[in-house]
Amino acid sequence: MQMADLLNRKKAGLALTASEIEYFVAGFTAGSIPDYQASALLMAICLRGMTDEEAAILTDCMARSGDMLDLSAVDGVTADKHSTGGVGDKTTLIVAPLCAAAGLKIAKMSGRGLGHTGGTVDKLESIPGFRVTLSNEAFFEQVNRVGVSVIGQTGNLAPADKKIYALRDATQTVDSIALIAASIMSKKLAAGARNLVLDVKCGSGAFMQTQEDAQHLARLMVEIGKRCGRRVTAVITDMDTPLGTHIGNALEVTEALEILQNRGDKDLRVLCLALSAQLLKSGLGLSDDKAMQKAEQILKSGAAYKKFLEMVEAQGGDAELLRRNPDFLHAKCSRTVPAPRDGYIVHMQTRVVGESAQLLGAGRAKKDDAIDYAAGLVLHKKTGNLCRAGEPLVTLYAADAARLDEGEARFLSALEFGDVPPQKKPLILGKVE
Ligand code: URA
Repeated sequence: MQMADLLNRKKAGLALTASEIEYFVAGFTAGSIPDYQASALLMAICLRGMTDEEAAILTDCMARSGDMLDLSAVDGVTADKHSTGGVGDKTTLIVAPLCAAAGLKIAKMSGRGLGHTGGTVDKLESIPGFRVTLSNEAFFEQVNRVGVSVIGQTGNLAPADKKIYALRDATQTVDSIALIAASIMSKKLAAGARNLVLDVKCGSGAFMQTQEDAQHLARLMVEIGKRCGRRVTAVITDMDTPLGTHIGNALEVTEALEILQNRGDKDLRVLCLALSAQLLKSGLGLSDDKAMQKAEQILKSGAAYKKFLEMVEAQGGDAELLRRNPDFLHAKCSRTVPAPRDGYIVHMQTRVVGESAQLLGAGRAKKDDAIDYAAGLVLHKKTGNLCRAGEPLVTLYAADAARLDEGEARFLSALEFGDVPPQKKPLILGKVE
């Protein structure tokens, strides 16, 4: 087999065979297929697309390019969630303990963030003492005993994805829906859980800007999951305004603790319940209504809150500190920014709000940048809210005044004011089951 044949077939818009896809993934991962040929194939895929079957085969080959986590040491029904990423997304901190309190086993490997704030692992590391590195034995033991563990990615999970993603990044081929779906799902297949809920975000703070693209991506990932023997459902959700009110690592843990104690932002609560109910439905075989009732009952009873603290304690974190003081980490400097005028917030460029958090110190611009766990912002007003000039709009947290200045200017540039309220968009835009 030769790369030239694959390139010609894809250039002509034909489907690649399973053995051709295997040849490409194995050869490129091993280094025998050079970057220039791989780049040409990725561009041809970008322009010509892939069938569902090709995308599923590509995903499976990428998953098998490294370690496949064997969760057979976990007793019970394994479940995982994935979000395509957005601003203020702390849902894992709520959904994982909630589903564990309902009896599912959540053995979750999560990433660090590059961009506006850290990833789930960075958020958890903001808790004093919390360990995100566990041996496989300790990880499985905790999942069996507590029901949930969230750790950083270990081992050699989907190395083909790492190599292909780096090339896509350099060749403007990131935005192929087939390649995005294969990239995300290869890591999820390798991570081993049988049940998976995907939160596919769409809007100005998301990877997918339109609902149509989000729907395509969700449908394809669910289809790939099915073809690869996993139960996958997807929820398509709005990311045209940040999720919840807190953006930043420790700040997001604080907000998650509020929801876990049955208080806090209504939209964030609704989304966490919807994602949890999807997992309870597929993992426990419940109807939609029963799954939602169970999720609500667990949240209201405080069982999810207790489970979160149990997980924190099991991973060495100071659960007692969180119990005593949910607002557990304070930045050196803060500033409350007043609304510049009377009017409704008609739009927040959510990605720009995220950039403001990064300038405050909450995120990384480069892989090795340090994060300031206490940095970030708390929104007092969001899209649709009426503001009076001078009313508190947002409180910014950072290590120094220069960062506050930068964060403030970027934050204000994200806002659009108007005299009439914008049309309210639903938070949950669709589901794919
Ligand atoms: N996230 C991923 O993991 N891969 C992509 O290609 C895009 C987003």
